[in-house]
Amino acid sequence: MILFHACQIFLLLASHFFKSMVLSTQKSEKIVMDKFIIEGGNMLHGTVRISGAKNAALPAMAAALLTNEDVHLNRVPSLADVSTMVALLGKMGVRTDGPGSGPLSMSMTINASGINTYEAPYDLVKTMRASVLVLGPLVARYGSARVSIPGGCAIGSRPIDLHLKGLAALGARVSMYHGYIDVTARQLKGTRISFDTITVTGTENLIMAASLAHGTTVLENAAREPEVVSLVDQLVRMGARIHGAGTATVTIEGVDRLHGCSMDIIPDRIEAGTYMIAAAAAGGEVEIADCSPDHVRALLTMMRAAGIDYNETDHGVVVRKERSARIKSLNVKTMPYPDFPTDLQAQLMALMTQGDGTSAIAETIFENRFMHVPELRRMGADIRTQGNVAIVRGETKLMGAQIMATDLRASASLVIAGLIAEGTTEVSRIYHLDRGYEFMENKLSGIGARLKRVKT
Ligand code: EPU
Repeated sequence: MILFHACQIFLLLASHFFKSMVLSTQKSEKIVMDKFIIEGGNMLHGTVRISGAKNAALPAMAAALLTNEDVHLNRVPSLADVSTMVALLGKMGVRTDGPGSGPLSMSMTINASGINTYEAPYDLVKTMRASVLVLGPLVARYGSARVSIPGGCAIGSRPIDLHLKGLAALGARVSMYHGYIDVTARQLKGTRISFDTITVTGTENLIMAASLAHGTTVLENAAREPEVVSLVDQLVRMGARIHGAGTATVTIEGVDRLHGCSMDIIPDRIEAGTYMIAAAAAGGEVEIADCSPDHVRALLTMMRAAGIDYNETDHGVVVRKERSARIKSLNVKTMPYPDFPTDLQAQLMALMTQGDGTSAIAETIFENRFMHVPELRRMGADIRTQGNVAIVRGETKLMGAQIMATDLRASASLVIAGLIAEGTTEVSRIYHLDRGYEFMENKLSGIGARLKRVKT
């Protein structure tokens, strides 16, 4: 009955989302191989409204496991990854009501009082690695979590050893069994934990776990991303006592219980950055509205250095670019926030194919995040890689081609390349895009791009 209820909620959301990737809470999984057909060469004009952030919505949903009361989330983006999290929570017996008020401001209420299993199964974790975000809350609140070990993915091996080391430091027992991690704890106890590497979801998992631990936890070398700050904002609304979010040291004084809350998901800074780069690449004048310029400061600094004209408004950024204006080539290195994000590296590379010289783009976060390079080369880009550095020769004329999306951000880079290429570009496997870009074809068509989704 509970499974039936979860399926109903999931199917309702999936149909609302009109996404190309349809997941099922049943064992079988259907991936719809939609394509984008892009006619390049149009300049872009108008306004794009930015959706709630995927990477803030997913931890916000997981945090609802920390209480028996309702957690109301507003501005939840309609994305395949959100559907997957709904399915995951539903499998555990957690009630998720939604969608709410409209495509760009979906409201969702989550209530975990009916939870009956503490497991994230393989079929969902393999679809979405962020499923691992249920680990910390489950152990903290129910003393037990069983999560399928995420394998490698398209962008790298992406271990979760730091999540597990942190939970063990909080007193949990961690064991591995037939591809699953079992984590148990009668009561987590606060301690000092220093991350060897900055990890976003690792920081989020441990903040959630420590919120219900006995005593004080200090996290050092913590991630400072806006999504971490947003999660802490939510937890504080739920009654947690946390200081230092947004800095490298976060202090969490454990409390006995957390209660429900209402929370707006912050704007998606990566989506905002992607449309800023698209506008710079295609030319025109585009307002990227409902976003926080401070969250894309590193990109704006780069755009300024590249000679792209923009101005900040109260609620966004207006990017302006004449067709003939030069774009300066840049050297860029991805780093944790507040530096240049790995999630905009691929998109910036598409822009740099139009730079006036040679760019060096170093990827320092994920070891395999150049999957877009061979596809961009098929369109005429002159890019060679040396280890974790891509050398991009500018002023190349891109030509439309049949190309394949390989991961979420790589796909966005290919769409940007398609917008500036001569002729027709066919981007296949756009289910990757549907994981993280809400209504991309509508948003791009709305500012004058010639782009359509073709169902196959
Ligand atoms: N790492 C470890 N051990 C760990 C955890 C991380 O070695 O236990 C390493 C990773 O392999 C990587 C680095 O640390 O080399 C940073 O990884 P991090 O843990 O920060 O990545 P994540 O939390 O899995 C989140 C975003 C990603 C984004 C990265 C980096 C979510 C749900 N995902 O992933 O978003 O690229 O931070 O900013 O928040 C995307 O949206 O397309 C996406 C991939």
